[in-house]
Amino acid sequence: MLKTHLNPDIDRASRKMKFIKKSVEWIIREFNIDADSRIIDLGCGPGIYTTEFAKTGAAVTGIDLSENSIAYAVKKAEQDNLKINYINANYLEHVVDEKYNLVTLIFCDYCALSPDQRKVLLCKIYSALDAEGYFVFDVLSDRHFADKNESSACYYFDSGGFWSANKHFVFENILKYDRERVILEKDTVIEETGQFTIFNYLQCFTLEEIKQELADNGLKVVEYFSDVSGTAYTTDSREIALVARR
Ligand SMILES: C[S@@+](CC[C@H](N)C(=O)[O-])C[C@H]1O[C@@H](n2cnc3c(N)ncnc32)[C@H](O)[C@@H]1O
Repeated sequence: MLKTHLNPDIDRASRKMKFIKKSVEWIIREFNIDADSRIIDLGCGPGIYTTEFAKTGAAVTGIDLSENSIAYAVKKAEQDNLKINYINANYLEHVVDEKYNLVTLIFCDYCALSPDQRKVLLCKIYSALDAEGYFVFDVLSDRHFADKNESSACYYFDSGGFWSANKHFVFENILKYDRERVILEKDTVIEETGQFTIFNYLQCFTLEEIKQELADNGLKVVEYFSDVSGTAYTTDSREIALVARR
């Protein structure tokens, strides 16, 4: 997964580097990030965004579940001589006891959470935001759901891939649940030593639904875009990037 994050040409664990560069520039400009800013990036991966935020002099924290990604991020910060507070933890459980003026959750990670988990996370974000703080995140839209087709495919990796470092097969099924507007990406990984299945359920939202979900948890959407680089929103947007406040 770490290798995939760091591949600048793949939109999988992180987006392509060209987009991330545009996205970072937009966030820094839009939220006036400077040495007085305090930022927390939830699901920071190997720290692609946090590294750029920290270069402005901002106080930056990154949280991620992946030990590998955090170990890479810590090393990278040392090499770049950047002071970044990296935490290897589950953001649904970790107690955030500081206040931030920017909380980010990037690459539609919100969609992979269950309704209960989203409630827990929004409650944590609410208390992590200071009075003037912004929460910036993105979700898959109803247009994304409509455009997605159900499919099945099989792949063979002879020297490791996203789910395993060993040679393996992946049987991939994409299924759609119309009533809930949920996409299931189901990957069954078969190695010489055994097999496992990953179920990735992705909730897609209309603009009104995501606004309402935030409002139900005390957060008000103040702006929205087509992506986290500030592209104008249209009803054809496959993603919705949202800016919310307390
Ligand atoms: C799709 S990647 C996006 C990474 C990063 N935001 C970016 O855009 O480059 C999602 C990241 O969230 C992390 N993650 C997922 N669930 C998490 C949780 N509950 N707590 C902490 N990190 C989590 C994963 O380990 C992964 O690094």
